[in-house]
Amino acid sequence: MTAESVRGERGAIVDDRLDRARGNGAQGPGAAGAALTQSPAWRALEDHFAAVKGLTLHALFEADPDRGTALAAEGAGLYLDYSKNRVTRETLGLLCELARACGLEARRDAMFRGEPINITEDRPVLHVALRAPHGVKIPVDGRDVVGPVHEVLRQMAAFADKVRCGTWTGYTGKRIRTVINIGIGGSYLGPDMACEALRPFADPTIAVRFVANIDGEALRDATADLDPAETLFIVCSKTFTTEETMTNARSARAWCVAGLGSEAAVASHFVAVSTNAAEVARFGIDAAHMFVFWDWVGGRYSVGSAVGLSLMIAIGPTQFREMLAGFRDMDEHFQTAPLARNLPVLLGLLAVWYNNFFGMETQAILPYAHGLARLPAYLEQLQMESNGKHVDLAGRPVSYQTGAIVWGEPGVDAQHSFYQLLHQGTKIIPCDLIGFCRSRAGLAHHHDLLVANLLAQAEALAFGRGAAELAAEGVPAAQIPYRTCEGNRPTTIILAQALTPRVLGALIALYEHSVFTQGVVWGIDSFDQWGVELGKVLARRIAFEIGSGAAGSAHDSSTRALIGRYLAHRA
Ligand code: F6P
Repeated sequence: MTAESVRGERGAIVDDRLDRARGNGAQGPGAAGAALTQSPAWRALEDHFAAVKGLTLHALFEADPDRGTALAAEGAGLYLDYSKNRVTRETLGLLCELARACGLEARRDAMFRGEPINITEDRPVLHVALRAPHGVKIPVDGRDVVGPVHEVLRQMAAFADKVRCGTWTGYTGKRIRTVINIGIGGSYLGPDMACEALRPFADPTIAVRFVANIDGEALRDATADLDPAETLFIVCSKTFTTEETMTNARSARAWCVAGLGSEAAVASHFVAVSTNAAEVARFGIDAAHMFVFWDWVGGRYSVGSAVGLSLMIAIGPTQFREMLAGFRDMDEHFQTAPLARNLPVLLGLLAVWYNNFFGMETQAILPYAHGLARLPAYLEQLQMESNGKHVDLAGRPVSYQTGAIVWGEPGVDAQHSFYQLLHQGTKIIPCDLIGFCRSRAGLAHHHDLLVANLLAQAEALAFGRGAAELAAEGVPAAQIPYRTCEGNRPTTIILAQALTPRVLGALIALYEHSVFTQGVVWGIDSFDQWGVELGKVLARRIAFEIGSGAAGSAHDSSTRALIGRYLAHRA
């Protein structure tokens, strides 16, 4: 079946899912995932997969001398080379047809219009409103949300400027030297990653630290060398009820009050970022020191909201706005570029291709930039919390794989640890390699070597080194099996001019919309995270039991024994 022959079904898959999600259809378990995997677009891809799965990148490049430039696209300052993927031009056409059949364009437009596409929480998904230009109107429940977004940005900028120039002082009148963001998950991973990535743009006289883990060592280490008089805490939590964050915040408050000798110090040393004004007030932070965001911003999509306050203090409001402009560049590209030239769509569809047709279970993120050391951790939450789902929009179990396992490390370091498995292991792992043309460090020869490594790794993974080549190089026959690299291991290369705030914004939005694309194809709700709730409930119960000194009877024998052992052995 060709791309042409599947065009007639456009919208059929998504209509079926949405009808069912709205309660307009029978939800028999037998129907699980049927619309997707029995659709002509999916079947066309299955047939096509059977025909092309044996093709090698070697053969594909030999047959198509232009492949290296033809299978590449540009947008929002990013260059995406997807030529070293195990696809033909027909594969890409069929994947785009699948995206159309799943209603990708309509779903994308619904998101940008503010429709409640997070159906399990009945909410719009409007992180794109966080970077919408002044003057654009996006109504939610009849009220524009872009105006308030800009108002909060203005408040954040005024506050960040005061801290940066020293007019915001601590309780004793000292200047703030360290900002500690207390938050976890989406209330930390984004600003942490971006602070690291944009360190050259940061004010070196103000340190920004992050405390996420409830392990007391995290807070102790973050505060050990600090003077409370010079320390500002940002308590960052969408709900303001997250156990880890609130426990850390209460201990930080106690450290601050003990150090400064007065409860009154809290007003100068604590601000809040949240959607929950009541809980913020209960904690004792004045409404004037609260920076709001809204329930239509998912935690893992929130770095461009007030959640980015610590980042804004580090890099300043102007560079923060530059980052938002980069997000906007990619939003516009996602909305307007044809699917076949659309970077997030291509990235998302390649992920579907490997996940669902090749059955590859994981994906590696390998930034060739020291500043992007925390990007893999950030993308782990973005992708796995969004797309690690087992039912479709209608609540039916899916009969196909959803989100891949995402992991990674900065490229060159990882070459000396796990790349062996990438090159010669029995599992094939598609890799995203991210690099930049310009160094920020000034040591040009370091940068040339860094980029040479990125390019070499992609080449080695794709083309390997066969027995004949090794024999021709004089490698003894007995050694050849060990040294052979079979190649044919896919990579996607993302190249940009330099790691600037604008480019970082575009890069984050690239992955956000790639995640969206995958979620639309799988017909899942990429914006809820019910799976994390059960563990939280059980942790509360066990914490209560530990506090009262005995395991409850409701546990299995293993958990009961472990609680008993902990109680017996703790200090
Ligand atoms: O437990 C998962 C989660 O809900 C994430 O989705 C979220 O980013 C994180 O916890 C933190 O939540 P909050 O910002 O409400 O403290």
